[in-house]
Amino acid sequence: MLNKMKMWKNKAQVHRKEDLLQGPMPAHVAIIMDGNGRWAKKRALPRMAGHYEGMQVVRKITRFANELGIKVLTLYAFSTENWKRPKAEVDYLMKLPEEFLGTFLPELVQENVQVRVMGNKEQLPAHTLRAVEKAIEETKNNTGLILNFALNYGSRAEITNAVRNIIQDIQSGKVDINEINEQFFASYLMTNDLPDPDLLIRTSGEIRLSNFMLWQLAYTEFWFTDVLWPDFTEQHFLQAIYEFQQRGRRFGGV
Ligand code: FPP
Repeated sequence: MLNKMKMWKNKAQVHRKEDLLQGPMPAHVAIIMDGNGRWAKKRALPRMAGHYEGMQVVRKITRFANELGIKVLTLYAFSTENWKRPKAEVDYLMKLPEEFLGTFLPELVQENVQVRVMGNKEQLPAHTLRAVEKAIEETKNNTGLILNFALNYGSRAEITNAVRNIIQDIQSGKVDINEINEQFFASYLMTNDLPDPDLLIRTSGEIRLSNFMLWQLAYTEFWFTDVLWPDFTEQHFLQAIYEFQQRGRRFGGV
C-alpha cells in the first residue's frame, strides 16, 4: 500500500526545472514522437492536423531542451518505413520541415542551435532537401544545442551502409581488417561525431524501437509514456529527466 502510494506520489509530482538542473542532465536525448494520428482521430480531425500540432510541440521542446542545456536532441520525424503511408500524408510530412524552418529558422540561428539531418537525404523531395540544407548551412557554425532530425532514417539501413562502406575501404586498401572494433564501426554511422543518447523517450504508449538508432541505444535509459506527442509538454519532459536522474547507470559494471 505504502509502495503504491509512493508510486502515485511520484506520478503526480510536479518537477521544477531549477531543481533538475542541479542533477545530471542527459547530454543527448532522442525522441520517438508518436501518436499524432491518434490525437487527431480523438478530435475527429484529419491525421495531418495531428502532425501540424506535433510540429508545434517540436518547437516548444526544442526551446526547452536548449534552456536545459541539453547538447543534442534527436527527433524521429520520418522513418524509411513511413513511405508506406497514403501519398497525401507523406506529401504533408515532407512539407513540414519547410513549414517549421520557414518560421523557426531565424530563432534557431539567434539561439545558437545547430540543425542537422540524419537519414537518406537523396530520396527526399527537392523542396524538402532545399529547406533542410538551407537550415544546415545557416546554422553550421552554431555551438549550442544540436537539433538532429532523423528524416528518412532507418537504423538497419544505416548499419548495412556502414558495413558496405567498411568493406569498400578494406578492398581499396584504405582500411585494415584488424582496425575494426566498436569505436571504428561507430565512426561509419551517421552519428559519428555525436555521443550516444543518454535518454530515449517514446510517446503514445507503444513500447518498441521501430528501427531507431539500434546501435546507439545500447546503454540508453528508456522512458515510455502514454501521452500522445501533440499533448507532450515541458512538464512531461521534466518528468522523463527526473526519472533519468533516479536511475543508476552502470554500463554493465557494478
Ligand atoms: C508518428 O505519429 C509521427 C510521425 C510519423 C511524424 C512525426 C512528425 C512530427 C511530430 C512533426 C515533425 C516536425 C518537423 C519539424 C519535421 P503517427 O502518425 O504514427 O501517429 P499514430 O500512431 O497515432 O497514427
